[in-house]
Amino acid sequence: MDGLGGVLGGVLSLTGFLGSLLVLSPAMTGVVLAAALPALVAETLLTRRRTAMEWDTEHHHRREYFYGQLLTGTSPATEIRLFGIGAFLRGRMMAERRAANAAERGMDLRELRTQGGLTALGAAVAGAGLWWAANAARHGTLSVGDIAMFLAAVAGVQSALGALTAAISGGQARLLAFTHYVAVVRAPSDLPRAVTGEAPPLRRGIEFRDVWFRYGDDLPWVLRGLDLTIPHGSAVALVGLNGAGKSTLVKLLCRMYDPVRGQILWDGEDIRDIPPEKLRDRISAVFQDHMNYEMSARDNIAVGDLTALDDPSRLERAASRAGVHDRLAALPKGYDTPLTRMFALDDDAASGVVLSGGQWQRLALARALVREDRDLMILDEPSSGLDPEAEHEVHALMREHRRGGTCLLISHRLSAVRDADRVVVLEDGRVAEQGTHDSLLEADGGYARLFRLQADGYEVTS
Ligand SMILES: Nc1ncnc2c1ncn2[C@@H]1O[C@H](COP(=O)(O)OP(=O)(O)O)[C@@H](O)[C@H]1O
Ligand SMILES: [Mg+2]
Repeated sequence: MDGLGGVLGGVLSLTGFLGSLLVLSPAMTGVVLAAALPALVAETLLTRRRTAMEWDTEHHHRREYFYGQLLTGTSPATEIRLFGIGAFLRGRMMAERRAANAAERGMDLRELRTQGGLTALGAAVAGAGLWWAANAARHGTLSVGDIAMFLAAVAGVQSALGALTAAISGGQARLLAFTHYVAVVRAPSDLPRAVTGEAPPLRRGIEFRDVWFRYGDDLPWVLRGLDLTIPHGSAVALVGLNGAGKSTLVKLLCRMYDPVRGQILWDGEDIRDIPPEKLRDRISAVFQDHMNYEMSARDNIAVGDLTALDDPSRLERAASRAGVHDRLAALPKGYDTPLTRMFALDDDAASGVVLSGGQWQRLALARALVREDRDLMILDEPSSGLDPEAEHEVHALMREHRRGGTCLLISHRLSAVRDADRVVVLEDGRVAEQGTHDSLLEADGGYARLFRLQADGYEVTS
């Protein structure tokens, strides 16, 4: 609106002054107008350049922001202090700032030079006009009053043209920024979304059929022709070394990505034919990189299923099953205690507490459990930060969930995996072995080797 108003205002005052100038000297009017053209062209080019410069330096600003967050955040503080890397990170942050400043300074200089040149051109035109008017007055063609009017008209036309140019280039800058906005909002969805279709309650099971997947065309394959069945009502444990693709498989199953080749079937139906939100509504999960929300304990559990937000008994039941109820109940404000010091007031303990890593993990488990009656429970290394007692509880949970639902457990702790109906070993993006714990031990393959390693007292960590 501003830009449009500026253009309209510019046009109106320009018309007025141009009229007066035309009466006095059509030739001079042409000269003044012609001198405005280079300004318009130069301003347009400068705006383009500035927009390109802003686009090109954006990554410096983002990295500067990133280092700034690292230097001011509470969680990085421990490592930053122990390793003594504050000055190092600050140096990196300043380097980004300097790079951005250099680009901006270069642009400012260019603008200064161009605008200086344009101002000189305008002054030369006005000077030539004055010289012409003085001559005309000497020959009696113009009166003294005419000279005053002529000078005022030249100045008026020039400043109106200047304002018009500024308004046009301002509008152009906004339009260029708008094209970036449009590119973002019009970007096609990365997943083709089915709008019709249902995810019926799981009856038979989930099947991965020759699934190939990589995160990008230029990245290595993570899954290479994976065939896997997770029968309904069973607990399947997935094991494999770091980077074997276990968490990737989980993301595919929750439809965060689609396989590059092959299919994932939900009771025989390709999950691409089911609207993602309906599919996800049937699944509960503890992701390996689960969130720790800087909100109250109540919120932290209820986000698993918002219908439980005002139902303390449901929240407490989930927390009890995850073994974290006693801890939460003992907090200064119980379940309403914020689990962060981010918004804490002075030394008021009730305004926020900090949990340990294992306690957060139990909370993530409670969040998954409050999502009751889902068909599939996915636990991606839910016990990696848990004490033996909690780990034992996770096993019990798995056993319990299996009665009504289906469970996919990923764990490095082979003791946790032993209880599963089926153990699947993932290697090179495929299923290398599968069977019960006992049958795999008997087969004496990779699983047996891993298990013996742990039994010897080693622990494979994630
Ligand atoms: N978002 C991602 N973008 C690119 N590569 C990824 C991404 N997530 C995981 N990977 C890669 O995929 C491989 C499998 O990772 P992941 O499924 O997390 O392994 P696991 O859970 O078995 O330890 C790894 O080589 C990892 O680097
Ligand atoms: Mg993983």
